[in-house]
Amino acid sequence: MTRKIFVTTALPYANGPLHIGHIMEYIQADIWVRFQRMQGHQLHFVCADDAHGAPIMLKAESEGVTPQQLVTRIAAGRRPYLEGFHLSFDHWHSTDSPENTQLSQDVYARLVAAGLVYRKSIEQFYDPVKGMFLADRYIKGECPNCHSPDQYGDACEVCSTVYAPTDLINPYSTLSGAQPVLKASEHFFFRLSDPKCVAFLKEWLDTPGRLQPQVVNKAREWLTGSGEQALGDWDISRDAPYFGIPIPDAPGKYFYVWLDAPIGYLAALQSYFDSGKARANGERRTFTEFLAAADTEQIHFIGKDIIYFHNLFWPAMLKFAGPPYKVPDHVYVHGFLTVSGEKLSKSRGTGISPLRYLELGMNAEWLRYYLAAKLNANVEDLDFNPDDFVARVNSDLVGKYVNIASRAASFITRHFNGQLAYQGDTEQLAALAAAHAFQVQQAYENREFGKAMRDIMALADRINHDFDARQPWVLAKDPARAAELQDVCSRALHGFKLLSVLLAPVLPHLAAHVALELFGLERRFAWSDAASLPERINPYQHLMTRVDAKMLDALFEAEPPAAPPPVPRAASAAAPAGVAAAGAVAQISIDEFKRIDLRVARIVEAETVAGADKLLKLTLDLGSDTRTVFAGIKSAYEPAALKGRLTVVVANLAPRKMKFGVSQGMVLAASGETPGLFLLTADAGATPGMKVS
Ligand code: MSP
Ligand code: ZN
Repeated sequence: MTRKIFVTTALPYANGPLHIGHIMEYIQADIWVRFQRMQGHQLHFVCADDAHGAPIMLKAESEGVTPQQLVTRIAAGRRPYLEGFHLSFDHWHSTDSPENTQLSQDVYARLVAAGLVYRKSIEQFYDPVKGMFLADRYIKGECPNCHSPDQYGDACEVCSTVYAPTDLINPYSTLSGAQPVLKASEHFFFRLSDPKCVAFLKEWLDTPGRLQPQVVNKAREWLTGSGEQALGDWDISRDAPYFGIPIPDAPGKYFYVWLDAPIGYLAALQSYFDSGKARANGERRTFTEFLAAADTEQIHFIGKDIIYFHNLFWPAMLKFAGPPYKVPDHVYVHGFLTVSGEKLSKSRGTGISPLRYLELGMNAEWLRYYLAAKLNANVEDLDFNPDDFVARVNSDLVGKYVNIASRAASFITRHFNGQLAYQGDTEQLAALAAAHAFQVQQAYENREFGKAMRDIMALADRINHDFDARQPWVLAKDPARAAELQDVCSRALHGFKLLSVLLAPVLPHLAAHVALELFGLERRFAWSDAASLPERINPYQHLMTRVDAKMLDALFEAEPPAAPPPVPRAASAAAPAGVAAAGAVAQISIDEFKRIDLRVARIVEAETVAGADKLLKLTLDLGSDTRTVFAGIKSAYEPAALKGRLTVVVANLAPRKMKFGVSQGMVLAASGETPGLFLLTADAGATPGMKVS
């Protein structure tokens, strides 16, 4: 039976470019989607930009553009990411769209009709300096549950408790720093605490096989909490000024972004249907018919931080809106990607830039494979580790998988003109391949990609082993044993084809090349190609290069410095000769200079770094704290000679993630046209932490 599956990934906020965590989520979903397509199922894979909300409004304001202009600009930048990482979305839309306005207002009207919406005047934080009610994320304070400081107003990132901003201890506005004041305003609420909602959600969570056990446990805690932890009603309105969808018949009121965002999944699907792409993809029904159909599966891939929205609010909204809306069939939750053990943070400059990865000429399929090998069906974080990445890709993909084809194909081309021939029981060979394919199929279906990759690589090991054991290079010297040689190589290439089919969801580009070029098929692989024995090949063409560890160094290096701004002619002509000779760098004011926090530091430890030719790892005492700084001074200094010395450090430089760890500052050194590198030092008497000015 052909399954009809509507798959989404979480809609990224349209206030910035995609980061490597987004790409991980898309790769996970894309592998699953491609796998299902290979089974012959009908997939509709859509996403959209999440355009609404206060952050986007404020960002646009700060740039002097309209929110629509900002969102349009961000949307225009998505393509290189999606194409670059072979993400096969069928459609990409926006929540700031007519479809979403219409659908959100429709869902809302149905919830009103179901008696699940009420209005209530609430006191809410208002920034008296900025002149607006404060969105949750613009209020910070101490978590009322675990007392972690600097938590946002909607949920605690430490203990995951969801609360109202007024529950925060010592709140402040992050927009102006002002202490917010309470001001009354009428809000709209979704009655999540209604017994019929609660009863429904219990049933939703308990449906076997729908959600991961960890997700059910988490959501059940929220659902069955009592007292302070009890499930509250959901505030679904925001007051102007707000970038969002207007609430009908309520001037100055907008839907809270988290109401219209998941409805954006449906808006994207509708736009995909209306564009004719669904029809081209074999779906003849209308959007509404498709949505309502009992055999339509609706599946969302999301990260662990948005479980609450997707497993309580979203199913409840859909359930009580009624047909054609249906509750999701599955919400598949993944953990977070870390880089060398560190959380991603744009503000701290850590993480990997997906575009830089591509610009460096790194192969997207390396990353797809690496992540696949680390992904499973649990809500577990996974780490991108550069050394592990190089080792894994080179040993598995190049050393085990590609190696089979590159070795076996040349014999077949040279000795047999591309013709394959098998000795012995070919039926058994095909049956064995089918059994392998079945095992891997189960793993993909269950999103146990790591297991799938392990099974595939174990098979690659076997194929290599069988090939080597029969010593084809010896057979090739003896014309009497030609049939044997042809058999060994044919079996290896059959194995290679099997591996290519099994890896195709992860390596779509490479697998297509193998299907079309090497095996001369006129189409991409389908899963059913796994067991059939290939009959001939075309000459082998290079398939994949090894990762060069230097690429990882480059990936973690800071962006190349921008060229210094040109000095205006008149100014440079007027400048004293000495200044021009020292390099024409534009003047700065004393205030600009003061922004640089220069401090005296003592080098307490200096070590070489395995694998780095230029770097020394310095441990610096800054008086009040200790920092790790990677400095490119290995060519000039013996580590032992540096220990105990005083130097000058830029203490407020944004930390930078490097391949070897995070560098928390920069030491100053002089260099010129002639060789040599000279560390700055402070005269005797200076002590760590002293300010340099
Ligand atoms: N706009 C909301 C989602 C609305 S869905 C109706 C949002 N956007 S987001 O841009 O912050 O996050 C989008 C997705 O990226 C989420 O699923 C989130 O969990 C995921 N990730 C964000 N950081 C991540 C990692 N470090 N690792 C993996 N996924 C991460 O939330
Ligand atoms: Zn907390």
